[in-house]
Amino acid sequence: MDFCYIEDVGKFEGKKVTVKGWLYNKRSKGKIHFLLVRDGTGVIQCVMTKGEVADDIFNAYDLLTQESSLEIVGRVRQDQRAPGGYELNLEDLKIVQIAQDYPITPKPHGAPFLFEHRHLYLRSTRPHAIMRVRNELIWAIRKFFYENNFVLIDSPILTGAIGETAATLFETKYFDLGKAYLAQTGQLYLEAACTAFGKVYCFGPTFRAEKSKTRRHLTEFWMVEAEEAYYDNEQNMELQEDLSVFIVDWVLDNCKEELKILERDTSKLENVKNPFPRISYDEAVERLKKAGSKIEWGTDFGGDEETILSKTFDRPVFIYNYPKKARAFYMKPHPTRDDVVLCADLLAPEGYGEIIGGSQRNDDYDSLIQRIKEEKLPEDAYTWFLDLRKYGSVPHSGFGLGVERTVTWICGLSHIRESIPFPRTIYRLYP
Ligand code: 4AD
Ligand code: MG
Repeated sequence: MDFCYIEDVGKFEGKKVTVKGWLYNKRSKGKIHFLLVRDGTGVIQCVMTKGEVADDIFNAYDLLTQESSLEIVGRVRQDQRAPGGYELNLEDLKIVQIAQDYPITPKPHGAPFLFEHRHLYLRSTRPHAIMRVRNELIWAIRKFFYENNFVLIDSPILTGAIGETAATLFETKYFDLGKAYLAQTGQLYLEAACTAFGKVYCFGPTFRAEKSKTRRHLTEFWMVEAEEAYYDNEQNMELQEDLSVFIVDWVLDNCKEELKILERDTSKLENVKNPFPRISYDEAVERLKKAGSKIEWGTDFGGDEETILSKTFDRPVFIYNYPKKARAFYMKPHPTRDDVVLCADLLAPEGYGEIIGGSQRNDDYDSLIQRIKEEKLPEDAYTWFLDLRKYGSVPHSGFGLGVERTVTWICGLSHIRESIPFPRTIYRLYP
């Protein structure tokens, strides 16, 4: 008889199948036992009736504990009332292992306990739904870039040059070459690759020794970055808009069930249509001051400022041209102002804040080397990067989208730790 995944049982209506999974829950009406079995693809109710199955099978019900692993043979029956629309009339049961005292019981648990047990907690309905959204979202990102003729260029994780700022580096000894840093970004390598391929992207884990204990920061997070030769900051923003709209549409179309489980107000996501509003950093500071913020021109925005700004729009908003002193060394100076650079952050609505950071890059050799010096970065490490400004330098731009920030927003989560299978924060290295 056919083995089948629960998500496929509908194809076997009236037939006998084997389902292999774990016991999610059970209940009994004396002569009828109900087992709720999950297999990772879905949950199905299995029904057994005294007299219709062998006594030892019927009595095995008493042994079954939450998360015990089991194989069930049963006939698929359509049932409108059943979650998923089908039930299994159980005919045979094989116990694979009896789980003892599964710690995550149906009663409510606090977040610290659940994240202590993340290796088990992933089985629960809520994290399960979030990870499936994450899976679809990543697929959408790759599909978008593939369909728009971007070439995937994997960037190294162990790097010699500092990609963003010395403040948040993880370093490790590296043989006779001194030290290596875990990549904060793949950007510098993409800048090289875009002169070879035109439009490129990379997608990988990035690392920041963030001391901040906010709801928005991880020490290890996944970033997708794009780099486009001959694009200016404006074209770069248009590309980010297209990507964001594509991702949101894809998740709305493909994760209806999951968003329902998460009680996400999808009408908010349906507003995500281009064009997105664009306001300058200067104007953003004015707006913040009017809203009562103590922000001074020249400082970067933190979570509080981003929350205020992003709450006033029904879709993502770009804040462009931040102060030079608040931004990384590689951004292109404004052509007529020397206090700001050509860049933009995309803030997600509903208070979520920055999901994308992007900029036009400094393509001028002399001004770039001056910025490297001003930031007291080791010049030697950038020889190869500066080469790109010597051999066919062109205007170019790019951006990086934080996957976990985006999942957090789209799923409507209140903390970023829920958006990644095994979160890494300053407090957590296990599980
Ligand atoms: O704004 P960031 O620092 O930009 C860069 O790294 C550029 N090199 C990207 C580029 O232009 N190629 O980071 C990009 C995005 C942020 O907008 C945010 O979504 C996410 O990465 N991010 C984090 N996500 C979780 N935890 C952290 N500590 C993060 N830091 C940045
Ligand atoms: Mg940023």
